[in-house]
Amino acid sequence: MRSWGLVVRTIIIWSLLLVVGTLVFIYSGRYDIGADVHHTRLVAQLIGALRDHSIDTRITGIAVPDLNDPERIAAGAEHYDAMCTGCHLAPGMTNTELREGLYPRPPNLTRFSPEPRTAFWVIKHGIKMSGMPAWGLTHDDEKIWAMVAFLQKLPDLTPAQYRALVPEQGGGRHDVHEHDDQHVPGKVLGGDGSVPVTSVPAPAARDPDAHEHATPAPEHAHHE
Ligand code: HEC
Repeated sequence: MRSWGLVVRTIIIWSLLLVVGTLVFIYSGRYDIGADVHHTRLVAQLIGALRDHSIDTRITGIAVPDLNDPERIAAGAEHYDAMCTGCHLAPGMTNTELREGLYPRPPNLTRFSPEPRTAFWVIKHGIKMSGMPAWGLTHDDEKIWAMVAFLQKLPDLTPAQYRALVPEQGGGRHDVHEHDDQHVPGKVLGGDGSVPVTSVPAPAARDPDAHEHATPAPEHAHHE
């Protein structure tokens, strides 16, 4: 009886110490939140396990549509090129400054095809504190499945095959959501398609308005 009391008291004291220690650590500022300082192996493994189990319990019951449908794949290629290459690369691209600076480093999706249901869930919901956005807030399930279908083919594509699938440069008006369903091919906006994919700026660098206002806004005129 007495020894049980001792065990319980010891557990309570150690738990309190752990909580106080954690709070002191957090509020002391000792932890370096910078993305250029990587996790220790143990912390990386714990976060990886947290992510994998979280996703695994959430993908059960997701029904996968036909991922070989050519129209779906082509639609996915267009979305991927407009929104994802800055972080996940395209055939012929080696790296981007955006990707270089991100931690965790976004996986190179030209190297492997992610498991379809996992990919669907991750694209739709994103991953906290990783830079992977939740595209489901702005894209319906069909568009997300289109990207999943395209990702199954991406590792097999040469740079030329990739360019043949995506709209030519200048067609990246993807962020203009009023026009979400009618991506204008680059041709219309003056792209000639000769620009290699590697020089296509990261999605964030594209200004969807750049082609739409022929004259600069008056307040900018005096800067020149
Ligand atoms: C700002 C950078 C960024 C952008 C843009 C981005 N991602 Fe990600 N993505 C990440 C990061 C970082 C991870 C890894 C997260 C982790 O594992 O903790 C990731 C993970 C993924 C995964 C999981 C891969 C696996 O290992 O199974 C898929 C699939 C994916 N992204 C698809 C996309 C698609 C499709 C787009 C475009 C619609 C996109 N991502 C745009 C940063 C990005």
